Amino acid sequence: MSNTEGFDVEFVRGLFPSQCWDWAFFENAGGSYVPNSVIDRLTAYMRETQVQPGAHYPASALAQDRMDEGRRLMAAMIGADMDEVSVSPSTSFNVYVLANALRPLWNDGDEIIVANQNHEANAGPWHRLAERGITVKEWKVDPQSGSLDPSDLDELLTDKTRLVAFPHVSNLVGEINDVPLITQKVHNAGAMVCVDAVAYAPHRAIDVKAWDVDFYLFSFYKIFGVHMGCLYGKREHLLEAKGQYHFFIGEDETSYKLNPAGPQHEMFASLVGIADYFDAVYSHHFGTPANSLHERTKACFELASQHEEKLSAQFLDFLTSKKSVRLIGTSSASRHDRAPTFAFSVAGRSSQEIPPLLEVDKVAVSAGNFYAYRLASALGYDPDDGVIRASMVQYNTEAEVNMLIKALDRVL
Ligand SMILES: Cc1ncc(COP(=O)(O)O)c(C=O)c1O
Repeated sequence: MSNTEGFDVEFVRGLFPSQCWDWAFFENAGGSYVPNSVIDRLTAYMRETQVQPGAHYPASALAQDRMDEGRRLMAAMIGADMDEVSVSPSTSFNVYVLANALRPLWNDGDEIIVANQNHEANAGPWHRLAERGITVKEWKVDPQSGSLDPSDLDELLTDKTRLVAFPHVSNLVGEINDVPLITQKVHNAGAMVCVDAVAYAPHRAIDVKAWDVDFYLFSFYKIFGVHMGCLYGKREHLLEAKGQYHFFIGEDETSYKLNPAGPQHEMFASLVGIADYFDAVYSHHFGTPANSLHERTKACFELASQHEEKLSAQFLDFLTSKKSVRLIGTSSASRHDRAPTFAFSVAGRSSQEIPPLLEVDKVAVSAGNFYAYRLASALGYDPDDGVIRASMVQYNTEAEVNMLIKALDRVL
């Protein structure tokens, strides 16, 4: 498995509807575009198997197979088994349900630690447990850079700590937190981790087993899929968590007991299209298929992250040359340090006023707190104004980044 030519971004763009490329799109951290393979799987389900799944007649059996295949492949993609993932409407939903499923296992006075670098999805449901007898401590970012320092955990962890909730990558800071190191530290203290990987998953391969994480979450609509969320949990933790679905769904039904919304049939089936996408990217760059989807996805992300690193360097060169710009997170473009998600503000200007000014150049960025409300406040921003955010994924091009730079330069 090797490729010396680099990432073929034009090939990759050809896998998406052509209208995607009418604008230079930099709101990918809000949600990525969806390739034709996902749209095809979704419409095939709707056209051919629009029936209640799980019965014996052929259309119903096929519907169930298509749904199961979606979940099976997504579990395989992150190196997990199918009974270790719960697919549901969103990550916000998954954390909310998880917090309620774990609370009965804990005693009054037990502690959890919540990073203020989190998107509210991995903060609010944990903070709410303070109303139900749990002591909630905050793991605070550096107020200037937005970085999280793992050594700050040393004085927060106690023998009463049950769980630490933090992001793999913050949707504003963009830095890659050292998940294996933090997880090890937390495990040494006898607690579990709940990692929000929504802003990480679009950029790097996931390996839940290698990292030994307890709970790990991401959303498919940020990685070329539909609006759904994935919760991975270690089997023993999922078995222990208290089911939140119908009373007759058994505690051993780990894939279903934490989705009180019930399965979203056509959406489950569409997940196969994400695997189709990575298979197409893999075959184009590496030829013969690697034996597992996990390996294929890893190889694709490895190549794509080198492309992303070039885009990061190009944009950071510009941003750091502007005295009026405050960049959140590291100015290193290294793919080992950050994802290509850039939040910044401009001295003396409201963040909200900037994005509309880029529209004449057909450049799409956005501004706000992006539901990282606590983080925006900790960084000293008015959360209603927030920051400007430009975020890239593997299908963005150097030409598009040039358009972004030119448009921003004119406005600044
Ligand atoms: C880092 C991060 N975590 C969590 C979420 C919430 O995901 P969902 O919309 O699936 O609830 C988002 C959404 O933008 C996010 O960026």
